[in-house]
Amino acid sequence: MRVLILHGANLNLLGERQPEIYGMQTLTDINELIRTAARELRIDVDFAQHNSEGAIIDALHAARSDYDAVVMNPGAYSHYSYAIADAIASIPVPVIEVHLSNIASREAHRRISVTASACIGSISGFGPRSYVLALHAVAQTPGK
Ligand code: DQA
Repeated sequence: MRVLILHGANLNLLGERQPEIYGMQTLTDINELIRTAARELRIDVDFAQHNSEGAIIDALHAARSDYDAVVMNPGAYSHYSYAIADAIASIPVPVIEVHLSNIASREAHRRISVTASACIGSISGFGPRSYVLALHAVAQTPGK
Protein backbone atom coordinates (compact mmCIF):
# COMPACT_ATOMS: atom_id res chain seq x y z
CA MET A 1 0.00 0.00 0.00
CA ARG A 2 1.25 3.46 -0.94
CA VAL A 3 0.07 6.60 0.87
CA LEU A 4 0.74 10.27 0.21
CA ILE A 5 1.09 12.46 3.30
CA LEU A 6 0.03 15.90 2.12
CA HIS A 7 0.68 18.87 4.39
CA GLY A 8 -1.01 22.17 3.59
CA ALA A 9 -0.58 25.83 4.34
CA ASN A 10 1.89 27.04 6.96
CA LEU A 11 2.77 23.57 8.17
CA ASN A 12 6.35 24.10 6.95
CA LEU A 13 6.71 26.42 9.96
CA LEU A 14 5.81 23.83 12.58
CA GLY A 15 8.15 23.97 15.56
CA GLU A 16 8.37 27.76 15.42
CA ARG A 17 4.73 28.56 14.60
CA GLN A 18 2.50 29.02 17.68
CA PRO A 19 4.19 26.18 19.62
CA GLU A 20 1.64 26.55 22.43
CA ILE A 21 -0.97 25.23 19.95
CA TYR A 22 0.99 23.11 17.49
CA GLY A 23 3.90 21.92 19.64
CA MET A 24 7.66 22.10 19.27
CA GLN A 25 8.14 19.39 16.66
CA THR A 26 9.17 20.47 13.20
CA LEU A 27 7.62 19.07 10.04
CA THR A 28 10.77 17.00 9.58
CA ASP A 29 10.31 15.52 13.09
CA ILE A 30 6.66 14.74 12.36
CA ASN A 31 7.49 13.14 9.02
CA GLU A 32 10.04 10.94 10.78
CA LEU A 33 7.36 9.82 13.30
CA ILE A 34 5.01 9.05 10.40
CA ARG A 35 7.74 7.18 8.52
CA THR A 36 8.44 4.96 11.55
CA ALA A 37 4.74 4.15 12.02
CA ALA A 38 4.34 3.48 8.30
CA ARG A 39 7.25 1.05 8.32
CA GLU A 40 5.60 -0.92 11.14
CA LEU A 41 2.33 -0.98 9.19
CA ARG A 42 4.17 -1.94 5.99
CA ILE A 43 2.88 1.16 4.22
CA ASP A 44 5.05 3.08 1.75
CA VAL A 45 4.75 6.80 2.36
CA ASP A 46 5.72 9.87 0.38
CA PHE A 47 5.56 13.40 1.74
CA ALA A 48 4.59 16.73 0.22
CA GLN A 49 3.91 20.19 1.64
CA HIS A 50 2.35 23.06 -0.27
CA ASN A 51 1.26 26.49 0.84
CA SER A 52 -0.81 27.33 -2.20
CA GLU A 53 -4.29 26.02 -2.88
CA GLY A 54 -3.56 25.24 -6.53
CA ALA A 55 -0.49 23.15 -5.67
CA ILE A 56 -2.55 21.13 -3.18
CA ILE A 57 -5.22 20.54 -5.82
CA ASP A 58 -2.57 19.48 -8.35
CA ALA A 59 -1.07 17.07 -5.79
CA LEU A 60 -4.51 15.52 -5.18
CA HIS A 61 -5.10 15.11 -8.93
CA ALA A 62 -1.69 13.50 -9.38
CA ALA A 63 -2.30 11.18 -6.39
CA ARG A 64 -5.06 9.38 -8.26
CA SER A 65 -2.62 7.44 -10.39
CA ASP A 66 0.08 6.84 -7.81
CA TYR A 67 -1.46 6.25 -4.38
CA ASP A 68 -3.94 4.02 -2.57
CA ALA A 69 -4.82 6.76 -0.08
CA VAL A 70 -3.95 10.31 0.94
CA VAL A 71 -3.57 11.54 4.52
CA MET A 72 -3.97 15.29 4.36
CA ASN A 73 -3.78 18.26 6.71
CA PRO A 74 -5.00 21.18 4.57
CA GLY A 75 -4.28 23.73 7.34
CA ALA A 76 -6.62 26.72 7.21
CA TYR A 77 -7.87 25.72 3.74
CA SER A 78 -9.96 23.12 5.58
CA HIS A 79 -12.27 25.83 6.76
CA TYR A 80 -13.18 27.43 3.43
CA SER A 81 -11.67 25.79 0.34
CA TYR A 82 -14.49 24.39 -1.74
CA ALA A 83 -11.93 23.94 -4.53
CA ILE A 84 -9.91 21.48 -2.41
CA ALA A 85 -13.14 19.79 -1.27
CA ASP A 86 -14.09 19.38 -4.95
CA ALA A 87 -10.64 17.96 -5.75
CA ILE A 88 -11.02 15.36 -2.98
CA ALA A 89 -14.48 14.45 -4.27
CA SER A 90 -13.15 14.22 -7.83
CA ILE A 91 -10.55 11.53 -7.26
CA PRO A 92 -11.18 7.84 -6.58
CA VAL A 93 -8.44 7.74 -3.93
CA PRO A 94 -9.70 7.83 -0.31
CA VAL A 95 -8.54 10.90 1.62
CA ILE A 96 -8.36 11.13 5.43
CA GLU A 97 -8.16 14.60 6.93
CA VAL A 98 -5.99 15.21 9.97
CA HIS A 99 -5.40 18.15 12.27
CA LEU A 100 -2.83 18.53 15.00
CA SER A 101 -5.14 20.66 17.14
CA ASN A 102 -8.71 19.82 18.06
CA ILE A 103 -10.46 22.14 15.62
CA ALA A 104 -13.82 21.40 17.32
CA SER A 105 -12.63 23.17 20.46
CA ARG A 106 -11.09 26.22 18.80
CA GLU A 107 -12.38 29.50 17.34
CA ALA A 108 -15.75 29.39 15.58
CA HIS A 109 -14.20 29.72 12.11
CA ARG A 110 -12.09 26.59 12.71
CA ARG A 111 -14.96 24.40 13.88
CA ILE A 112 -16.18 23.83 10.32
CA SER A 113 -14.17 21.80 7.85
CA VAL A 114 -15.57 21.94 4.33
CA THR A 115 -12.83 19.62 3.11
CA ALA A 116 -13.51 16.95 5.76
CA SER A 117 -17.00 16.49 4.32
CA ALA A 118 -15.40 15.17 1.12
CA CYS A 119 -13.06 12.81 3.00
CA ILE A 120 -13.75 9.28 4.19
CA GLY A 121 -12.99 10.40 7.74
CA SER A 122 -11.07 12.85 9.86
CA ILE A 123 -8.88 12.82 12.96
CA SER A 124 -8.24 15.94 14.96
CA GLY A 125 -6.61 16.91 18.23
CA PHE A 126 -3.91 14.31 18.83
CA GLY A 127 -0.91 16.38 17.76
CA PRO A 128 1.47 14.55 15.42
CA ARG A 129 -0.19 11.27 16.43
CA SER A 130 -3.24 12.36 14.40
CA TYR A 131 -1.23 11.37 11.32
CA VAL A 132 -0.25 8.01 12.83
CA LEU A 133 -3.87 7.27 13.77
CA ALA A 134 -4.87 8.12 10.20
CA LEU A 135 -2.31 5.64 8.89
CA HIS A 136 -3.83 2.95 11.11
CA ALA A 137 -7.26 3.84 9.72
CA VAL A 138 -5.94 3.69 6.16
CA ALA A 139 -4.40 0.27 6.80
CA GLN A 140 -7.82 -1.05 7.82
CA THR A 141 -10.02 0.72 5.26
CA PRO A 142 -10.96 -0.64 1.85
CA GLY A 143 -10.89 1.74 -1.15
CA LYS A 144 -13.32 4.61 -1.73
C1 DQA B 1 -4.53 22.92 11.63
C2 DQA B 1 -5.75 23.66 12.16
C3 DQA B 1 -6.09 24.82 11.25
O1 DQA B 1 -7.20 25.54 11.78
C4 DQA B 1 -4.93 25.78 11.12
O2 DQA B 1 -5.25 26.79 10.19
C5 DQA B 1 -3.68 25.09 10.73
C6 DQA B 1 -3.34 23.85 11.43
C7 DQA B 1 -4.09 21.80 12.60
O3 DQA B 1 -3.37 20.92 12.16
O4 DQA B 1 -4.43 21.85 13.79
O5 DQA B 1 -2.89 25.57 9.93
O6 DQA B 1 -4.85 22.30 10.40
